[in-house]
Amino acid sequence: MNQPSETHPWLIDPPPDNKPWTHLIARPTWVVVALVTTALVGLSLIQAVPSVWTAVAEPPPSRPAGEHPPAGILTSLPADARSCSGFYRPGPPRRVVFSIKEFGGVGDGRTSNTESFRRAVESLRRYGEEGGAQLNVPAGRWLTGSFNLTSNFTLYLEEGAVILGSQDPKEWPLIEPLPSYGRGRERPGARHISLIHGNGLSDVVITGNNGSIDGQGRVWWELWWNRTLEHTRGHLLELVNSSNILIYNVTFLNSPFWNVHPVYCRRQCCSKICYCSGTTSFPKH
Ligand SMILES: *[C@@H]1O[C@H](CO)[C@@H](O)[C@H](O)[C@H]1NC(C)=O
Ligand SMILES: *[C@@H]1O[C@H](CO)[C@@H](O)[C@H](O)[C@H]1NC(C)=O
Ligand SMILES: *[C@@H]1O[C@H](CO)[C@@H](O)[C@H](O)[C@H]1NC(C)=O
Ligand SMILES: *[C@@H]1O[C@H](CO)[C@@H](O)[C@H](O)[C@H]1NC(C)=O
Ligand SMILES: *[C@@H]1O[C@H](CO)[C@@H](O)[C@H](O)[C@H]1NC(C)=O
Ligand SMILES: *[C@@H]1O[C@H](CO)[C@@H](O)[C@H](O)[C@H]1NC(C)=O
Repeated sequence: MNQPSETHPWLIDPPPDNKPWTHLIARPTWVVVALVTTALVGLSLIQAVPSVWTAVAEPPPSRPAGEHPPAGILTSLPADARSCSGFYRPGPPRRVVFSIKEFGGVGDGRTSNTESFRRAVESLRRYGEEGGAQLNVPAGRWLTGSFNLTSNFTLYLEEGAVILGSQDPKEWPLIEPLPSYGRGRERPGARHISLIHGNGLSDVVITGNNGSIDGQGRVWWELWWNRTLEHTRGHLLELVNSSNILIYNVTFLNSPFWNVHPVYCRRQCCSKICYCSGTTSFPKH
């Protein structure tokens, strides 16, 4: 069978039915030439299509603060959030600002952005110790499953931005019930995670120009009403064991369950929030 050859111990003998290309394997110089050529072609492609690559790669770590956000996009706290002093302790502006588009996000209302949001937060987490990060969501309809937030982090919904909750229950994975309930609130066992979730965080801001977080929750209410709901529904936003939270100038719509659920949290302030709960606009049962 395929044994290392005697003359070139790092090479595997060609398979018995000598195909023409197997000669190449016996000639290391050809292999080197081919590899170098491939690498060069690959590199030039990367140069030629940077947008494709930045979409899947980590963001450049050394981009100066404030370089990227469009004019008028805040990286620090709105001035009239002062009413929160005592509840929320404002820090300095975030050091870096990225757009969800830089993580491959597509705001067409149909493309799933779950991986984009998760990748964005995962990449921006490392700025937590280095001045914090802001993730901007531009105008558009950004369909997504559940994603987590991180510390020293601002989620900024620009004017006309709508984060749309996926209607696929699998996009709201199951997590442990809260210790204080000991079980899912509606159904025993695990419960669906919230659309936007955080656990053990500090300094989290969710704000913008009154963009919306729309859970498209009707399907979940129907599951509840027709008694086929398997696991307790998820909230739009849940923050567990977190501190220094500001939720400001955003609208929560059509939650599958509750809109905002801070639990075991300290120093939080919710201001200028519009809750347009699906529960009241849906037909009574
Ligand atoms: C958040 O930022 C502060 C400094 O402003 C830093 O002391 C802290 O460690 C950071 N927290 C995390 C979890 O990165
Ligand atoms: C989000 O956080 C929850 C609870 O901390 C965890 O169970 C879940 O795996 C996290 N999800 C992702 C995508 O990291
Ligand atoms: C709450 O979060 C802090 C970090 O902020 C962590 O040290 C602590 O263990 C967490 N407590 C629980 C009960 O998870
Ligand atoms: C809140 O959102 C509204 C609507 O876009 C905007 O006019 C206003 O400037 C925002 N307020 C702050 C403090 O950002
Ligand atoms: C925010 O948006 C909601 C619904 O989109 C609207 O009802 C509310 O008046 C808006 N608030 C501000 C301050 O623009
Ligand atoms: C219950 O509601 C869900 C969501 O609308 C629907 O898919 C399902 O068919 C309904 N089941 C029954 C038994 O009515």
